[in-house]
Amino acid sequence: MNKHSLPEGSDADTGSEHGSGVFHPLEPLTADEISAAAGLVRGDIEDGEGELRFESIELLEPPKAEVRAFTSGDPISRAARVNAYRTGGIGVWRYAVSLSEKVILSKEFVPTARPMIQLEEFMEIEETVKSDPDFIAACEKRGITDMDLVCVDPWSAGSFGEPDEEGRHISHTFCWVRSFPEDNLYAHPIEGLNAVVDIKTREVLRVDDYGVVPVPEEDCNYTAEAQETVRDDLKKIDVVQPAGVTFSMEGRRINWHDWSLVIGFNAREGLTLHDISYEGRPVCYRASLAEMVVPYGSPAKQHARKNVFDIGEYGLGKLANSLKLGCDCLGAIHYLDCHIADVNGDPMVIENGICIHEEDYGILWKHWDFRTDETEVRRARRLVVSSISTVGNYEYGSYWYFYLDGEIEFEMKATGIINTVGCMPGECDKFGTEVAPGVVGQIHQHVFCARLDMAVDGDLNAVVECDTVAEPMGPENPYGNAFYVKETVIEKECGRKRKPEAERYWKFVSREATNRMGKPTAYKLAPTESLAAFHDPAGPSGKRMPFIFNHLWLTAYDPEERYAAGDFVNSSDGSDGVHSYVKKERPLDGADVVAWHTFGLHHQPRLEDYPVQPCISTGFKLMPNGFFDRNPNLDIPADRNKASCKALAAE
Ligand code: CO
Repeated sequence: MNKHSLPEGSDADTGSEHGSGVFHPLEPLTADEISAAAGLVRGDIEDGEGELRFESIELLEPPKAEVRAFTSGDPISRAARVNAYRTGGIGVWRYAVSLSEKVILSKEFVPTARPMIQLEEFMEIEETVKSDPDFIAACEKRGITDMDLVCVDPWSAGSFGEPDEEGRHISHTFCWVRSFPEDNLYAHPIEGLNAVVDIKTREVLRVDDYGVVPVPEEDCNYTAEAQETVRDDLKKIDVVQPAGVTFSMEGRRINWHDWSLVIGFNAREGLTLHDISYEGRPVCYRASLAEMVVPYGSPAKQHARKNVFDIGEYGLGKLANSLKLGCDCLGAIHYLDCHIADVNGDPMVIENGICIHEEDYGILWKHWDFRTDETEVRRARRLVVSSISTVGNYEYGSYWYFYLDGEIEFEMKATGIINTVGCMPGECDKFGTEVAPGVVGQIHQHVFCARLDMAVDGDLNAVVECDTVAEPMGPENPYGNAFYVKETVIEKECGRKRKPEAERYWKFVSREATNRMGKPTAYKLAPTESLAAFHDPAGPSGKRMPFIFNHLWLTAYDPEERYAAGDFVNSSDGSDGVHSYVKKERPLDGADVVAWHTFGLHHQPRLEDYPVQPCISTGFKLMPNGFFDRNPNLDIPADRNKASCKALAAE
């Protein structure tokens, strides 16, 4: 494990100039603030059955007006959201506490809520299952006697109406067995064996045994030591910035080129970006990946339950990696540590959890005037803010890119190990790919939802749906070639779908600022990576993820509407989430618009995804569209990179 609890009294805030270590109201909580928030809740929470645990302790963001009025050096009042629970039963206490005033601001007990499954609980669940006599007997039936080699993954269970699961916080587990202690367990699925565990009480409710399928014996390891040869013919690539980097930091605010933003982090969403502006002009108040779900496509009873919300049910932040210089990140890197709470409410640090660097990005623009033989070419570069999270078998790399020309891009890189299932060799059903004899990767999707609190030249925006229309052939279009963009202002909250035949995109337009042509300044979002949904919306999984059935949801800003699939996702009934927020039908034209963009990866596993999957990626772009009066990058110097040289030249 690459994270540790901080020793008592340690100063976890690096780079801070004064005691609080906070430069901006939207910076994430410091280690000391996490401790203080937990202390306030411990001192207030009523007694109950079982151990007190903390799901999450994060910044309670101050009101937007307060943040907008803030200038560097102003006093900052700090508050936290704390979710706590007891192991005696379900239910979560939601607290809001003031750290500045050291008081409880509000508290509420949500009796049916289940917290995110905590990292610390992963091993508890495994131990619980592995010591269960029925589970041990089922392993024996499959010829597995060394329980030390058995691994049990704590999958969330959905909500399938099994009577013995009601009112509990359960994990529907899957298991694998290693050939030796360092072996890749996922090469050896123990098919048809699923223990159902109460995470809170650490009871095995039952062991579902769907019948013995031989465990695939072939080892398949991805470590360098496991390879017969490791090649030596790749020449090294160094990325050097001899004059240093272009960005600077003040606390968690980063300034780079004309961009400025505050980098946040919490246990659930991981990276969050705040107060994003270009040349001092606001673009987006807050951007994050607010939810994701991985729907699987096998109808087999045990596999049909697989529909995991890796953000709402586990938390990408808590599962973030400590990144390694020269491995995860190449070049001149600035790291930020991430402070979150462990299950006891103590601060936990993920060292080097956020990576910041610049990348060359090919050419920015070019033109050769063939008459004068003059060429102008400029190099592009981007600022990269990234983190990588490991959720069980899978890795999710979140990369936010900022470009010189005002574009913002999010890229999700998915890698790691596909979830493996067993079959009789050669008898894989149509819902998967046999990636090795008896080892199956089932069809699935990774559906993400980014929450983008847009602020194009201020908070008062509108959304315009832009569909390209072919003019009917006739007197107005005698040659049948005419087409144009038809713009429709979206009047009230709703969900919208992609429309490839209309090349549909959306514009977030300012209701205050105009460009030099008198049109509203705007940013554009095109749903280029959106997915068709294949789950029936009425099924037990489909009804818990209504957000996947539209590609853009639009709401009027409410600071309590934060998550696409609702606040508490484990065992949820599907009633909470962005689909319920839009039912209020609040007006959007001239409102403080929040966009929720659904996109993702459609993944029928390939043989090449095994035993470890090369990165596949998805994402979206926010492009300025009349935000600037012209190309904003005419002032980029025409420098020639002198470190570049001709390859294969005579030595
Ligand atoms: Co996948």
